[in-house]
Amino acid sequence: MSKEKGTYYITTPIYYPSSNLHIGHTYCTVMADAMARFKRAQGYDVRFQTGTDEHGQKIQTIAEKEGVSPIEYVDKIVADTKELWKTMEISYDDFIRTTEDRHVKRVQDIFMQMYKKGDIYKGKYEGLYCTPCESFWTESQLVDGKCPDCGRPVEKASEDAYFFEISKYQDRLLDLFKNNPEFLQPESRRNEMISFLEQGLEDLCISRTSFDWGIPVPLDESHVIYVWLDALTNYITTLGYPDDPAEYEKYWPVDVHLVGKEIVRFHTIIWPAMLMSIDQPLPKKVLGHGWLLLEGGKMSKSKGNVVDPRILIERYGVDALKYFLLREYTFGQDGVYTNEVMLKRMNYDLANDLGNLLSRTVSMIEKYNGGIVPDAVEPEEPEAKALDDDLKATATGAIDKVEERMEDFKFNLALESIWVAVRRANKYIDETMPWILAKNEEDKPRLDTVLHNLAESLRIVSVLISPFMPTTSTKMRKQLGLWYADPEWDDAREFMMMSGEEVKKGEALFPRLDIDKELEELDQISGAEKNIPLKLKDEITYDDFDKLDLRVGTIVSAEKHPKADKLLVFQVKMDTETRQVISGVAEYFKPEDCVGKKVVVVANLAPRKLRGMESKGMLLFADDALNGKNGLAFVTAEADDGNPVT
Ligand code: ME8
Repeated sequence: MSKEKGTYYITTPIYYPSSNLHIGHTYCTVMADAMARFKRAQGYDVRFQTGTDEHGQKIQTIAEKEGVSPIEYVDKIVADTKELWKTMEISYDDFIRTTEDRHVKRVQDIFMQMYKKGDIYKGKYEGLYCTPCESFWTESQLVDGKCPDCGRPVEKASEDAYFFEISKYQDRLLDLFKNNPEFLQPESRRNEMISFLEQGLEDLCISRTSFDWGIPVPLDESHVIYVWLDALTNYITTLGYPDDPAEYEKYWPVDVHLVGKEIVRFHTIIWPAMLMSIDQPLPKKVLGHGWLLLEGGKMSKSKGNVVDPRILIERYGVDALKYFLLREYTFGQDGVYTNEVMLKRMNYDLANDLGNLLSRTVSMIEKYNGGIVPDAVEPEEPEAKALDDDLKATATGAIDKVEERMEDFKFNLALESIWVAVRRANKYIDETMPWILAKNEEDKPRLDTVLHNLAESLRIVSVLISPFMPTTSTKMRKQLGLWYADPEWDDAREFMMMSGEEVKKGEALFPRLDIDKELEELDQISGAEKNIPLKLKDEITYDDFDKLDLRVGTIVSAEKHPKADKLLVFQVKMDTETRQVISGVAEYFKPEDCVGKKVVVVANLAPRKLRGMESKGMLLFADDALNGKNGLAFVTAEADDGNPVT
């Protein structure tokens, strides 16, 4: 490439192949793809990498439940993932699977480098252990104090484990954030990480012996390496680090790690600390993007409330979906996905604005000039000249705005600046009224100029959208008679390049959608999709259930348990009786926020003493569905105290 600008390395997270990927993963990958294509168009030597994070207990457990080996399980999901990216025309240069040999041996090398540096030591991992499940749990993961998987009691236990003395790097990490504001964006995340670091870092447990689906610790093969340590190194193992460093030297440090906001901490604290440990340069930038939420909360594979990109692609096409994802959401912020918002974007921006502009222009060139793009002449009339100048300035001025906005990952604004040109051109048709000009022979030069200018505007748009919607760009160029040349980025700076091209009307770029009909059909599809049976505990009989006496109560007071940090002591009023109930929820609620809340009480549960205080019954809370994290919410019951819940 003549205009070589240097290298540009961009990555997505490597996704867990625990089930098929959804629109949230697609969102991140589409952004990375658009950026990679944009940088290539600008003349950078781009390396764009994605992949799958295949080890760890979670995958092992799912595979066991499905009755297949972990590798069989992930092979299927990875095949689906690759198929999805192929359909989406994701232009990755490398797809890393963490089960590949090239990765495994290098992770072990990196582990040994950290060990030799004196940053890894053997210690004891302490936790609550369920023997039948061979699993360690933290207190907050337990359900009623029991194993969340099998419901059996757990016991305190410890196992040998290797630890990374990450605390050694605490000061250097703080300096990194303080001296280098560019390192992590958005800004709010940076402040979060600084306060996290200021609280002090605990050494990180980086090996496990309780399951074996992972990369063995080289000096002690009864341990497997912690899945995040394994996963984070993917960004350099694929470059051949440490044994085959040619690519590494070319592309490292990475320009951008694009990640979702929930894994920013791994990428800006653990990963840089690992790189410090092996004396390697740090990433130039980590960008945390927001989540796509459904109206009820975060989409998540485990909740089963996901939007399937495959269905949307089949109905609306790859580019319409890409456009919607890039145009609708503001980078760094969360956004709510609804079918309606998507369909409106597709109709207004794509079918009406862009699709119409192309089809009107091509039709008029066919009708008024035999399908040949005419030459233009500078209009003498000041009004016409002002109109043309404005159209040209808007079209040729868009590229600078796109470049400026893409530097900040503002995909939505970059696209908006292209659409300013699209809408300007549509308005130009209304202002110049070519169908009137066509009526008078003496207006032919003006008509030719107008048609030329419209074709030119479209040519520029076809260049500018090429990183975002490559197929649509190609389709436009075919209709404009530009099939013979790929879009050249800098050609979007010039006007008056076309002459004599033969246009050819093709299919509508984006068919107009009947929004009500589409909404109904999408609802039907997702209704059918959603009806997947939940994975539940063993079935109980009606008699088992009937033994429970559930009552509505109101919390009248709440305070911390004097002897246990995790417990709150509630006084709960149920009609005539107020009683004391203790729950392990102190990490989720402040006592003062609980008073006055309605709760459902398991009222006939045998009393028990918790750290010296009596608890009569149990309160029911819901997993906090809204943020998809470990957390609890009140079950609201709008009923009178003491009423049974049946
Ligand atoms: O965290 N909205 O994998 P993962 C927007 N394997 N983006 C979303 C999203 C949503 N609702 N849901 C997921 C892992 N994502 C690790 C990463 S990297 C060394 C290891 C995107 O399968 C978002 O980019 O849970 C998020 O960070 C990523 O998928 C998490 O994917």
